[in-house]
Amino acid sequence: MSTTRHFRVWRGDDEGGQLTDYDVEVNEGEVVLDIIHRLQATQAPELAVRWNCKAGKCGSCSAEINGKPGLLCMTRMNTFGEDQTVTVTPVRTFPVIKDLVTDVSFNYEKAREIPAFTPPADLKPGEYRMQQVDVERSQEFRKCIECFMCQNVCHVIRDHEENKEAFAGPRLFIRAAELDMHPLDARDDRKEFAKEEQGLGFCNITKCCTEVCPEHIKITDNAIIPMKERVVDRKYDPLTWLGRKIFRR
Ligand code: SF4
Ligand code: F3S
Ligand code: FES
Repeated sequence: MSTTRHFRVWRGDDEGGQLTDYDVEVNEGEVVLDIIHRLQATQAPELAVRWNCKAGKCGSCSAEINGKPGLLCMTRMNTFGEDQTVTVTPVRTFPVIKDLVTDVSFNYEKAREIPAFTPPADLKPGEYRMQQVDVERSQEFRKCIECFMCQNVCHVIRDHEENKEAFAGPRLFIRAAELDMHPLDARDDRKEFAKEEQGLGFCNITKCCTEVCPEHIKITDNAIIPMKERVVDRKYDPLTWLGRKIFRR
């Protein structure tokens, strides 16, 4: 059964824009991305939207739907009331390129700053067998689809452009934790790097990042809090401090 529903979609570019009203056909079983595609096909051929898989796995179609971050391809139309206007806007934390498409290069720049995985120089192929427990520990973080919704909702940068230089954000904290937990990563400064260079200290554990993650990664409990605890351990534990002093001599 098809009905006509009211939509408001943000149209504009880096110089500004506004919400534009549309009445669109909606069919049973459709998701918001279907409606955006119908708009492109029937009323707004120049409407820009980024998408790829339409299966919640490429992370491209992040937007804000009635003010809440969500994947356009995974937000079903039957989650809204029949008479409810559906408002679609671009994610707010990143600069708009056009309509629903934002420039998320901030995230890739922050990713490039993280020192790469560093196995011991003398380790030869086949010399080490990873334990299942170590595989499982970091497997959760590897589910990330880079939708950047966690970055979008984090208050540290959502309304504070000036914090972006010093704060990498939750997506990059899970990358740091993944490397830190890897038994073959020879760097022992991952926690210090997270604190000193990625701005881990700005995070005050609001957990908004965890709440929006479509992969249900426990960003705060399993990555951020353990990284924070270990930073504190290393910096203030007198035995760790003494050990580092002695072995550095
Ligand atoms: Fe998206 Fe979750 Fe990855 Fe953040 S951690 S980018 S919310 S999948
Ligand atoms: Fe931001 Fe997540 Fe911390 S939303 S403040 S990184 S718990
Ligand atoms: Fe790939 Fe939505 S189109 S996650």
